Amino acid sequence: MRTQVAIIGGGPSGLLLGQLLHRKGIDTVVLERRTKDHVLSRIRAGILERGLVQLMREAGLGERMDRESLVHDGTLISYNDDMFGIDFKALTGTSVIVYGQTEVTRDLYAAREAAGAPILYDVDDVVIHGADSDAPHVTFTRNGSEERIDCDFIAGCDGFHGVSRKTIPETVRREYEKVYPFGWLGILSETPPVNDELIYAGSDRGFALCSMRNPMLSRYYIQCPLTDRPEDWSDDAFWDELRRRIPASEADRLVTGPSIEKSIAPLRSFVCEPMRWGRLFLCGDAAHIVPPTGAKGLNTAASDIHYLYHGLVQHYLDHDDDGIERYSEHALARVWKAERFSWWFTNLMHRFPDQSDFDIRMQQAEIAFLRDNRAAQTVLAENYVGLPY
Ligand code: APR
Ligand code: PHB
Repeated sequence: MRTQVAIIGGGPSGLLLGQLLHRKGIDTVVLERRTKDHVLSRIRAGILERGLVQLMREAGLGERMDRESLVHDGTLISYNDDMFGIDFKALTGTSVIVYGQTEVTRDLYAAREAAGAPILYDVDDVVIHGADSDAPHVTFTRNGSEERIDCDFIAGCDGFHGVSRKTIPETVRREYEKVYPFGWLGILSETPPVNDELIYAGSDRGFALCSMRNPMLSRYYIQCPLTDRPEDWSDDAFWDELRRRIPASEADRLVTGPSIEKSIAPLRSFVCEPMRWGRLFLCGDAAHIVPPTGAKGLNTAASDIHYLYHGLVQHYLDHDDDGIERYSEHALARVWKAERFSWWFTNLMHRFPDQSDFDIRMQQAEIAFLRDNRAAQTVLAENYVGLPY
């Protein structure tokens, strides 16, 4: 088999890149380790920055997104019973939209299938060969037999646990990591969200987040020890703890119900440099991870895809390699800004086991400054709606 761009990974990164390139007449093959149903079963944040919204439109996927998404002009921040808003629209002139990552991925799968573009599921033993040569290829097994794809370029969109990043020699790779000493226990419930906007809630008991997928599907999180397991938390225990971490005004109006999904996610900041090795380009979680405070995971994957998509179009249509030559430099410049914002917001809103009383006062002073100062709010808003590509 031969293609122009072999895409490893059928998550949001790989599918978005494939769809954008397809619309420019550039051939791709997507290799996905799991089944489509498994990929769609993943529960992930669905806050879309303006840049990703524009990419979805360019991919021809604006119709359902515009019909079903919620436009959010701001967010709420609270500390114990004190709550205030950050008005993205007033401060930056733009908003974000709430559209579950599952829906983004569903739309991308539907588009790829409609285009008849190849996506190979249940592939195993993917190995990248000759990434630093002019003739790379990928081998893999499917249905018990070994297969090979010869290609011009390889997009490593296979997430944090994929094979692409590890293909870059350790003598070339530099990795930066911070693991946080807590996790997020999240639940989905078929209940109306407690508020029309998201609430990022700090409290003496730890962080909580009130989010949503649609007007009858709520997503809530509470910070929890890494030693906790989902089965340690009954629904009632979860709701009781959530009520104690959000302002009383919100706790009083919280509508609870049975959880339809309950899971714990660890928090990590991670960046691999470079994001390119020869004809292999890393995108999304394959190259970087952010803690979910501020919902930058999907959106930072999107900016990688923006840079790689334009670089490959420039190569194939304009015979100009400047975009792919500078991909890693351009992508990392924005990745590190998203890492900083996610790290800052996580440190601001969470309780850390080793915090001193002084540290806690510093958090409280910074939240108070954010409440009272327009410039501080503008900094948060500019990062939250998405820095320019
Ligand atoms: N071969 C083929 N596919 C693979 C391999 C492999 N060796 N390893 C992993 N995959 C697949 C996974 O099954 C997954 O579907 O690659 C895909 C990677 O998707 P994601 O992990 O979702 O990463 P990405 O597409 O970059 O999307 C980033 O997803 O994890 C969230 O918070 C993250 O919102 C962000 C977004
Ligand atoms: C979510 O809805 O899952 C979500 C929203 C915002 C975040 C993280 C997760 O910062």
